[in-house]
Amino acid sequence: MAKNLASLLEKMWTDYVAINPLAQKVYDLFEARGDKVLNDHIALRTFNHPRVSVDVIAAPFLASGYKYCGDYHFTEKKLYAKHYEHSDALMPKIFISELKLEDFSKDLQLTVASLIEQIPAGQEHTFDFSSMGRPWKVTKALYEKLMKESDYAAWVAAFGYRPNHFTVFINALKSFTDIQALNTFLKENGVKLNSSGGEIKGTPAVYLEQSSTLANNIEVKFDDGVMTIPACYYEFARRYPLANGNLYQGFVAASADKIFESTSKGQ
Ligand code: NI
Repeated sequence: MAKNLASLLEKMWTDYVAINPLAQKVYDLFEARGDKVLNDHIALRTFNHPRVSVDVIAAPFLASGYKYCGDYHFTEKKLYAKHYEHSDALMPKIFISELKLEDFSKDLQLTVASLIEQIPAGQEHTFDFSSMGRPWKVTKALYEKLMKESDYAAWVAAFGYRPNHFTVFINALKSFTDIQALNTFLKENGVKLNSSGGEIKGTPAVYLEQSSTLANNIEVKFDDGVMTIPACYYEFARRYPLANGNLYQGFVAASADKIFESTSKGQ
C-alpha cells in the first residue's frame, strides 16, 4: 500500500503499464535512443459526485506538495477538470477531470450513484485511493448501458481509480526537437496514434501540442464474465514559452475534447 507520494506515483506507473504494455514499449524506445523520459502529467478521472469529486481525489496530492493551478471546462464531453503542480518542477502535473452528472439522464445518474454507494465509508479518503482500481461491482450490461451515453462514464465504471494516461514531456527528450518527428518515429515503430481531430492537438499559438496513442484493448473481468474493451493510452506533450519566457503549464480545453476520444469504443 502506497503511503507517500513517491510510492503512490510508482504504483500508478506499475499498474498503468501492466494494463497498457504499449506504454512500456514506447518508454523503452525512448530510453534506447538515450532519452530520459519525464512525465508532463498524469490524468485521473472521476465523477462530480460529492464523495469522489475532483477535490476529494486531489486531497492526497495537495497534502504532498501539490498546488491547484487551473481549471477547465470541456463542453463537448461534459467534463470539468483541475490541474495541480508540485513545487519540484520535475514532478508530473496531476490533471483530474470529473464527469458532470447533472448533464446526463436520470438513469445514468442513478447508475453511477449505485456504483459510488458501494465504496466502503471513508475509503475515498485513503491516501492511495486514486490507484486502487475498481471499488465496486459492475456487469457487462451496466458497462454497455453507460457506454451509450458516455464512454468516459463507462471507462470509470470498468477501471475505477487509476491513471487514464501518463504523458511524456517532449521538451525533455533530447533526441526530438518537435512533435512531428516524435510521431513519425512512433509510427515507424508500429505505434498507432489517435488521429481524431488530427494527430497533433493544439498549436504553438496555444503554447501546447499533444498527440497520443490509441487506447489498447484489454480483457476486463466483469461480474458476469470477461469483455475486451479500450483501456488506457500514452500521451505526448510539447510546451512552448509564454512571453515571459516560462513554459506554459496549463491545458487547452479544445484539444483535450478530442484527446478524450482516445478511449471511445471501436478505435
Ligand atoms: Ni493528458
